[in-house]
Amino acid sequence: MKVDVLTIFPEFFGQVFEFGIIRRAKLASLVEINVLDIREFTTDKHRMVDDRPFGGGDGMVLKPEPIFAAVESLVGTCNKADYPSGTRVMLLTPQGQPLKQAVVKEIADKSEHLVLICGRYEGVDERVNEVLVTDEISIGDYVLSGGEPAAVVLVDSITRLLPGALGSETSAVNESFSSGILDYPHYTRPAEFSGMRVPDVLLNGNHAEIEKWRREKALEKTRKFRKDLLDEDDC
Ligand code: 6GU
Repeated sequence: MKVDVLTIFPEFFGQVFEFGIIRRAKLASLVEINVLDIREFTTDKHRMVDDRPFGGGDGMVLKPEPIFAAVESLVGTCNKADYPSGTRVMLLTPQGQPLKQAVVKEIADKSEHLVLICGRYEGVDERVNEVLVTDEISIGDYVLSGGEPAAVVLVDSITRLLPGALGSETSAVNESFSSGILDYPHYTRPAEFSGMRVPDVLLNGNHAEIEKWRREKALEKTRKFRKDLLDEDDC
């Protein structure tokens, strides 16, 4: 998979894709990640990436021209009707579709080329949405000052689902959200630390009991923090 991130703050991304699973996926050529400065696609003397909103109001709006030019150079066209299959141009914005594991999975399974546009300020010129953007994504119900942290979240969540990205010792199958509920608590050695004991059930080697305990604890956590994830049977 190829991922191009369009941002007015390329330095923000620093070494963020150089660790752990993302780093390994890059080294194994499972994913190629490029960060591109929207300003590099301006053609005016002042290299302007934003301007005041028509109709008035606070803040600045990202201008359409450099974003259109960037997408054209990356995809070969600046009309979503003509994108190759497997190409998606996604705008990271609090006005988008909420990102869920099922959405991440669908993107990971079906996409070959992602162009992520990091929204900024009070918004992005709506013509970008109308003509370029195939998906608008939000990562949750809170306000970020820009789409950059959300782009990192999206790249991480997608990359780890690419075939071969997780080592044989790890699996995406048993995790929170792919199972529909939160994960169970984990412990490692020592069995006693500062007077705190690891639950006996985990030490006795009875795997049926361990599975039962884990399911109970996972449900407890889910009831406490995420009642919305439970259907009537589990409550
Ligand atoms: Cl994708 N962008 C911004 N600016 N704020 C957000 C968001 C995205 N998702 C949640 N809040």
